[in-house]
Amino acid sequence: MGENPTDLQPDQSNSSALKKLTSVIALRCVECSSLYPGVGDQPRYRCDCGGVLDVETKIHHPMQQEPPLQVGFEALTTSESDVKSFAGANWRQLFEERASLSPNWPVNVDAQLPNRSGVWRYRELILPIPEQYIVSRPEGNTGLYPVGRENCGNHRAGHRQIGHYVELDHLFLKHEGENPTGSFKDRGMTVGITMANLLGARAVACASTGNTSASLASYAAQLGLPCIVFLPSTNVAGGKLAQSLAYGATTVQIQGDFDDAMRLVEQVCKELGIYLLNSLNPFRIEGQKAIGFELLQQLDWEAPDWLVLPAGNLGNTSAIGKAFRQAYQVGLITHMPRVAAIQASGANPFFRSFMGGFSYREHVKAQTIATAIKIGDPVSFSRARQVIEESNGVVEEVTDEEILAAKTVIDRSGIGCEPASAATLAGARKLVEHGIIKREERVVGILTGNLLKDSQTGIPQLKQCDAIKASIEAVRRALANKISL
Ligand code: F0G
Repeated sequence: MGENPTDLQPDQSNSSALKKLTSVIALRCVECSSLYPGVGDQPRYRCDCGGVLDVETKIHHPMQQEPPLQVGFEALTTSESDVKSFAGANWRQLFEERASLSPNWPVNVDAQLPNRSGVWRYRELILPIPEQYIVSRPEGNTGLYPVGRENCGNHRAGHRQIGHYVELDHLFLKHEGENPTGSFKDRGMTVGITMANLLGARAVACASTGNTSASLASYAAQLGLPCIVFLPSTNVAGGKLAQSLAYGATTVQIQGDFDDAMRLVEQVCKELGIYLLNSLNPFRIEGQKAIGFELLQQLDWEAPDWLVLPAGNLGNTSAIGKAFRQAYQVGLITHMPRVAAIQASGANPFFRSFMGGFSYREHVKAQTIATAIKIGDPVSFSRARQVIEESNGVVEEVTDEEILAAKTVIDRSGIGCEPASAATLAGARKLVEHGIIKREERVVGILTGNLLKDSQTGIPQLKQCDAIKASIEAVRRALANKISL
């Protein structure tokens, strides 16, 4: 680290891109609305009042043609909503073209990368920077599985079991575990690491329950940037820890839980001049918005009635909610989906606050088998509260038993997910049972992480099946009472 370690060192060639970016983005405090420049000499993650920050962007509409000219009486009746729906049509056309024109196996990788990425395809709504600065795998383009009792297609009897379990006719599961490092974190990380690159950061860091660290380690390695990850000393799933180590991140396990690691990393980054890439960094949130844009595009821009997702540090709730708000504002969709954030009952500060009408902010000492969401003091609390309030959303809690039962249903369907992701299904089931989600409503649930991240929790272990002799008789005996052929 240099003498004045907190200074960023942008490359001279980046300075015009940074100047341009400064003219179109700003950071707004979620608590007191104070405004800061989008890019400064030093990175800013919080307002002077301690509140978290949100990126505000001047969005340039892709008006490829002028709105149709109205004459006479009709001209007087052209309303704001006509203009909005015209702009919406242009956005849709742009995103459709990008999705359909990008070849699967581009020869000139750099030239095609932004359109191939399920994040940068929506770049005007994510981070308006010149394409040559983008650092991408690419990411996104994750599956949206129709699994409801009615919308489940042919040859999907296993998937339909999920619809029966929640008793929903029109249910989709969007599997963010299909991202390059196996979780939704890659969506935010491509934007976060792009900013780190643009700003000339010399090292990056995060605290994590495992997925953020795996993602950051991978993207930092791609860029060739030193990376430090802070993990709780226990309760990090083996697959996630293995990723951080394998990708070469300096991996520090601390005595304490995620909340302790989060407090520490903020201080470490400030003191040592390291660029912080937790979702406290508002540019991470901008990338994660792409989950919302992509699922809307997959639904042909017909917004679902509900979006259900697991909630821990609350970055994702904030991001997807913001995406829906912006999609509505620019005319991509005609109504805002309601957002349902699901917490584990042993790690439920947001649920408790919701039950109290958000009149106070709760903290808890977190405990749950869903280690990814074992968080007692979520950083994006205020951002997520806004989303729940403005979308007329809800917060629900589910027990570890309910999470494991839902995970078994998702796993047995052949889709599979890590434990925290199953909170989505457990929560949707509960909300249907309570009559909050109606059986005929269209619901999208987010599966946040890949099954292989945690190969222990809720999965029958090998030791339960004794090895048998390699003979047909032994196979017959082993299958008796298990399968009727
Ligand atoms: N699901 C998975 C698989 C996660 O890894 C996380 C968060 C969440 C859900 C909750 O998302 O925090 O945005 O509300 N994992 C973070 C991490 C905390 O460090 O990997 P959130």
